[in-house]
Amino acid sequence: MKRLIPGALSALILAVALGACASGSSDQPAGDATADPAAQPAAETAAPASGDLGGREIVVGTDATYEPFEFTDDAGKIVGVDPDIMTAICQIANCKPRFVATAWDGIFAALKSGEFDALMSSITILPERETESGAHFTVPYHSIGQVILVRADNSTVTGVAALPQAVVGVQTGTTGDTAATAKALVPEDKMRRFETVPLAIQALRNGDIDAVVLDSVPAEKAAKDTAEPRLMVAGEPFTQEDYGILVPDKSPELLEAFNAAIAQMQDSGQLATIVGKWLTE
Ligand code: ARG
Repeated sequence: MKRLIPGALSALILAVALGACASGSSDQPAGDATADPAAQPAAETAAPASGDLGGREIVVGTDATYEPFEFTDDAGKIVGVDPDIMTAICQIANCKPRFVATAWDGIFAALKSGEFDALMSSITILPERETESGAHFTVPYHSIGQVILVRADNSTVTGVAALPQAVVGVQTGTTGDTAATAKALVPEDKMRRFETVPLAIQALRNGDIDAVVLDSVPAEKAAKDTAEPRLMVAGEPFTQEDYGILVPDKSPELLEAFNAAIAQMQDSGQLATIVGKWLTE
């Protein structure tokens, strides 16, 4: 501690000396440093207020195979909970979202390489994904848990305890993949990895696999589908996860605007209304 004080003091002296030196060598008129703020109001009023994105377009990358959060309707349009939430965010933050379909595999690298302004794809907030994509997550906008989807007719998989005996499908690289693999819950030779969840569900219907591990909301949606064979969710959610929007580190103004809008929509109940609407549809 004793040694730190002289260190800090000398740093301070150095800083003062450098400051004096910098202003001494400046070409600017001395008055500039203390310029009257009233002399530069134009720049301040031209910039949109914080939280106002000035009407700009936001290109949002998404794996549009995750009904009801993001999927393609019959007209080829990407629709669902996430596009609706982003539209509502943009109503508050003054922007125009444009959703672009991309594969889940490589989605984080695509954000890092600058292909999109943001990612919104039912993405569970995980610190390593921020590193991988050179981005930050917004505050959570929805919470889910991993669940087990099975065929409704006499499935032997009744919950997590039965997973080690089952052949289990997941979407590669999702938290369903991690949750099923964690602590060798499902042995590697019983894991089946698919590019998308609809492919995993198709395998489940065909009887090629016994269960699919995925987020609770898309699982509930699949269980509502009346196509035969019917599907159902077995047991309770066995993880707790929050969804966030990934925003590149180079766009802090987006993060700030999105966070403020999400907080407002959380308070007003608008977030819950949007999710509810897509679940009952
Ligand atoms: N929430 C899970 C995760 O982040 C699954 C997300 C999959 N999203 C998608 N659009 N396919 O890993």
